[in-house]
Amino acid sequence: METISFNEVREAFAKEVLEAKAIDDIEKLKVKYMGRKGVFRRLQDGFDFQLMSAKEKKRFGIEFNTLKKHFEETLIEVEAKLVGDNVTLVRKIDVSLPGKDSRIGAIHPVNLVQIELEAIFQGMGFSAMTGPEVVSEFNNFDALNIPNDHPARDMQDTYWLKNGMVLRTHTSSNQVPALKKFGAPLRVIFPGRCFRYENVDASHENTFYQLEGLMVDRDISVAHLIGVMKTLLSEVFHRDDVKIRLRPGYFPFVEPGFELDIQCLLCGGKGCLTCRTGWIELIPCGMVHPMVLKHGGVDPSKYTGFAFGLGLTRLAMMKFSIPEIRLFNCGDIRFNSQFIATV
Ligand code: PHE
Repeated sequence: METISFNEVREAFAKEVLEAKAIDDIEKLKVKYMGRKGVFRRLQDGFDFQLMSAKEKKRFGIEFNTLKKHFEETLIEVEAKLVGDNVTLVRKIDVSLPGKDSRIGAIHPVNLVQIELEAIFQGMGFSAMTGPEVVSEFNNFDALNIPNDHPARDMQDTYWLKNGMVLRTHTSSNQVPALKKFGAPLRVIFPGRCFRYENVDASHENTFYQLEGLMVDRDISVAHLIGVMKTLLSEVFHRDDVKIRLRPGYFPFVEPGFELDIQCLLCGGKGCLTCRTGWIELIPCGMVHPMVLKHGGVDPSKYTGFAFGLGLTRLAMMKFSIPEIRLFNCGDIRFNSQFIATV
């Protein structure tokens, strides 16, 4: 083994101890110098004690011990300094300052209403499903008795895609695919996002949510429709005094068709910025047109049904007294996080 002199040890240590920046480095130095195969061991091995006189041995002993002591004391000193530095570091953090709150997410008001409605409809035997937002022209229009040249297409300004598909203008685009897939009898709701190419103001958005409902069975009548709508509204608003009115409404895929309005809960029917007239058009609905049933492969001589297309976004406005539809898509967490579920 290569031998090493006192001076070399002293110099090497002086240099290395200066480089120690952390407690870990001190530990490494201890192992390096004091370990079984460490520097001090090598230093001892370099001397042949049998050939040394008593005087020489004594000199060696003194020098060796002095160096070792110096080594140990220096390490203690450096270690204390490193720990001390950490202590100062900790003191620089003001532990009395209030911590940063981690932000907890919240469910968007439209989703809150959606979740609530799903539970209500499931209670009435409906399944809740989703459908695509990009749909064929056929499912959005033709299947629903709205042919190309039909003026009803102008009622819903449409975002067309280059490939001829459309961003669905209503959740009614799910009606025929659902009938085709499941046949009759059927009870299903389709909550989802819809798109219309229109100017945005306090009560109109180009992106909004609807909840489509479809019930098809033998002998379904307008009475079933009204019954389901009334149950829905009293459960959603947790009150029995929600005033409704039915007006005739025109939609090519229902016959007869209705507009179900509810009295504005913001102003109590007096008329405000949101409702203007005291009434809010909330649920367009009607009896499923025989042509739609046929497109869905269901025999209209055996089955009848009702459909409705509830404005989820509008309903959330009513329920949470939100006067501005544009707030829903503003992405401001201060808006999103102030609503709580009522189920
Ligand atoms: N899809 C219609 C709309 O968006 C609403 C509707 C649905 C009307 C179902 C009748 C029946 O305007």
